[in-house]
Amino acid sequence: MNHDHWIRHFEENTKNRPEPDWQAPLGIQGRALSRLRRSIQQFQLGDGGGPAQLIAWNRDRYLSDEATRRLVDLWFKEEKEHSRLLGDLLRRLGGEPIATHWSFELFCGVRKWFGVNFELQALLSTELVSNVYYQLLRKHGDDPVLRGVCHLIIRDETGHIAFHRARLAAGYSRCGPLRVTLFRLRTLAAGTVLWINHRGAVRSLGGSDAEFYRGIWRDVNTFLRALRREKPHPLHSAQPWNGSQAKRHRSPVTRDP
Ligand SMILES: [Fe+2]
Ligand SMILES: [Fe+2]
Repeated sequence: MNHDHWIRHFEENTKNRPEPDWQAPLGIQGRALSRLRRSIQQFQLGDGGGPAQLIAWNRDRYLSDEATRRLVDLWFKEEKEHSRLLGDLLRRLGGEPIATHWSFELFCGVRKWFGVNFELQALLSTELVSNVYYQLLRKHGDDPVLRGVCHLIIRDETGHIAFHRARLAAGYSRCGPLRVTLFRLRTLAAGTVLWINHRGAVRSLGGSDAEFYRGIWRDVNTFLRALRREKPHPLHSAQPWNGSQAKRHRSPVTRDP
């Protein structure tokens, strides 16, 4: 994985980030507003409002070199920024931040106890389905600030998903049918947990169940197609490759998707 490229990506992404026009009149009222407020409350906590780092019990296994630590810090710095944007949006909608929620506690628990490979898999699936949620809010939410916030977050999350693709392409796992199926199922499960809590808000703005699940399916397929197009790792190419090279380059995060 080209660490320098990704460090440059994160540094460049801090530039040209126009703030939403926070003073613009609020375009959403009534039931849609109260449902959106509850939804943004949970996202403000879940999207960068919690621990801004990997929390798996064995995270040091992944963060063993300086460049990877720097990349992960830059990634989570963007997550913190999402929480800041969502917090300002929440206040505009008339809400206050919450300290905890059952889905947030569950998510942190599995990230912590199931290890760093699982945590990275879970974060990838969550980013894929959250990106679809933000896309639907941007499409259906008739409010310039909501759209501005979603636009910035979608821009960042698209980069995060590409970052995951790069780290997976640099690993050794074969993208075999079983792993692909498990990845699809895991992402659909993450989407369903999101949808249980946020369906009401998205539907009250005009989104639909079909649109949400179609979006997940489309983005998972796009991710997998792009992953297959990435330069094959020497271990799977026709180039000569020996075991000592494999041992030296073996990444601890090789099993997903
Ligand atoms: Fe985020
Ligand atoms: Fe993200």
